[in-house]
Amino acid sequence: MTSLHALLAQMTLDEKIGQLVQLSGEFFLDEPQLTVGPKAKLGIAQAVVDNVGSVLNVSGAVKTREIQRKHLQNSRLKIPLLFMADVIYGYRTIFPIPLALGCSWSPALIRQCCVVAAREAASAGSHVTFAPMADLVRDARWGRCMESTGEDVFLNTQYVRASVEGFQQDMPTQQGLAACVKHFAGYGAPIGGRDYNTVELSHQSLFEDYFPPFQAAIDAGCEMVMTSFNTVDGVPATANPWLLKTLLRERWGFQGITIADYAAVKELIAHGVAADEQDACAIAFNAGLDIDMKTACYANGLKPLLAAGKISERALDDAVLRVLRLKQKLGLFDDPYRGVTPEGEQRCCYHPEHLRLARETAGKSLVVLKNDRQTLPFNPATTRVALIGPYADNPDIFGLWAVYGEKSRCTTLKTALQEAIPDGNLCVTPGCDLLLDYGFLGEFGATHQVEQTRCLTDNERAQELERALDYARQADVVLLAMGEHMMQSGEAASRTDLHLPRHQVEFIQQIAAVAKKTVLLLFNGRPLVLTDVVDHVDAIVEAWFPGIEGSHALVDVLSGKRNPSGRLSMSFPYANGQVPVYYNALNTGRPAHQSDHSPRFLSKYLDCPNAPLFPFGFGLSWHETRLSDLHVTPRLLPGGTVMVSVAAHNTSDVDGLETLQLYLHDCVASIARPALQLKGFTQVMLAAGETQVVHFEITPHDLGFYDAEGDVRLEYGRFRAFVGLNSASLLEGEFYYAES
Ligand code: BGC
Repeated sequence: MTSLHALLAQMTLDEKIGQLVQLSGEFFLDEPQLTVGPKAKLGIAQAVVDNVGSVLNVSGAVKTREIQRKHLQNSRLKIPLLFMADVIYGYRTIFPIPLALGCSWSPALIRQCCVVAAREAASAGSHVTFAPMADLVRDARWGRCMESTGEDVFLNTQYVRASVEGFQQDMPTQQGLAACVKHFAGYGAPIGGRDYNTVELSHQSLFEDYFPPFQAAIDAGCEMVMTSFNTVDGVPATANPWLLKTLLRERWGFQGITIADYAAVKELIAHGVAADEQDACAIAFNAGLDIDMKTACYANGLKPLLAAGKISERALDDAVLRVLRLKQKLGLFDDPYRGVTPEGEQRCCYHPEHLRLARETAGKSLVVLKNDRQTLPFNPATTRVALIGPYADNPDIFGLWAVYGEKSRCTTLKTALQEAIPDGNLCVTPGCDLLLDYGFLGEFGATHQVEQTRCLTDNERAQELERALDYARQADVVLLAMGEHMMQSGEAASRTDLHLPRHQVEFIQQIAAVAKKTVLLLFNGRPLVLTDVVDHVDAIVEAWFPGIEGSHALVDVLSGKRNPSGRLSMSFPYANGQVPVYYNALNTGRPAHQSDHSPRFLSKYLDCPNAPLFPFGFGLSWHETRLSDLHVTPRLLPGGTVMVSVAAHNTSDVDGLETLQLYLHDCVASIARPALQLKGFTQVMLAAGETQVVHFEITPHDLGFYDAEGDVRLEYGRFRAFVGLNSASLLEGEFYYAES
């Protein structure tokens, strides 16, 4: 056990500053062109590299060991490096994207996925993951919806807590990771859905919707917090003392490390709040930011600032101590390699238990949006199936943030179906292109040309269409595997048009017109506008980007081996112009359905309903549940409990997992309250034909809400309580919260 204060006392100023600098892996490789290039570009000296405290996005037992070994040779005080990486929804065993995970309504499952992701990444030498992302999302134009668990603060808070617990569970035994919750704060609400754009949120909304998952992460012991790229009240989060000091440290008691998002310190110049790199360094550091990721601002700026008395040595020491403390917690002073070996990595990654969990999780995350004419499930032994579409035989179903996933290990839908359907009963063809224009990939070097050359020629296109129509006519069921290119969602992947591309829509319509039954299988990273296809197909399964076992999970569901239970954690808009659309909006003074104004002057669109196409909480299963007999205790006293009960009746002959959702509305309050707010949910296994009475408890704690100062207000009065299977179809009761 190293005494950190004693260590600190021995450190030179350069050594201290190094702990607050994070560089990426290329700085540590031997190839001269790599080391010279980035250093010159960033403008830092080799001495900084030698003293650096942490490394970004390098992984693999061999590589991390080698970098650590060389670093320790140069490090005068033998202070080990921290390896930090984006292990967002799996390291090698890739789970469904977070937005899909959100649809499982199972924090326990997400926790398990994080335990596994952390074990695999730790076995490969990582120490910290830049996860979970706790940003609430309401705008499907924003590409990073895929990294969030959805639009609801209650769900997100539970997921974030579970994720932090999962990632950090095995930290003490060297098999887990430290978690870094991100992006603090408000990053999920850029104006117009354009990534990195300005955020304008009221403090009331920040406290009510955006902050709670972060606070939950901290309460769960999260070791690090990453700042966001955007401004809050006009001040970039990376240099915002209100966020980093007043809230994080003083109010929430956070003792861990704060880190800037990628190059965000230098970006303070572009924001127009810093004159140059040194200025950026000063305002970020003085605002409470510990580590500068991927710029030279701290590396070159802290020393002269200290000499000029513009930052305090005490603050510098505190920040360095926080970094050293994490290194100690991770056991790096005892074993800088944390027991990592190539053999251990091989044993851990892709462990059959991990793959089993990935299959289970993907099965619980996909959402059935439509199932008419009993199209699904079908019997794979007797059904002639045509699998058509650009995702029919495509392993690219990981989504953008599966940084360490290996697509070669991913089973495609075709292969998974072949395992289930007898020879001769399955026809497969791509049918059409995924996209016709890959220009949006232009910034990724030659990628867009490569993709473009994969597009069908006019001749091939005509032939493919003929083949697809032919297969469709002969099949009992057509599965159309369509969607977004994986690079169309994720970071810097904002879009204004959320429809499937026109040629996909036309293709779906053409196939559906000749097919006996058509099932649309969707692979995408955000809610799409499906208004132009929904009436053409019999069934829709939202598979998201489902990860390494996604194809097997999908076949489990299609074939009836698994009864799906996923429920949307983000609304699917009816039209582009409706976005952002989310279930927990305020009523307004002129609500569309309960106002005595003439209809023209209500809060509504002239050309589109207010409601989304598929609401929050919605999803179908192979069983059906009917709710009845809602009972709500009429009176709640301080310290007391309201009991809500409802009868859930499985009216089908299939057993199924049902998600019952409890919503509240505060009828009169000092701040306008959302028409609905999720306050509880429970998943019950209902046997075929079974009825269960399900109970919820409401306490005064559930009735409080935040004001703009972040204080909780708890007010007496009338409340509505709702229980339903989704946010748009609810049984309703009411109760009074009274003083006596
Ligand atoms: C992203 C972060 C990520 C970081 C490091 C940034 O561009 O916004 O979410 O953790 O890069 O890779």
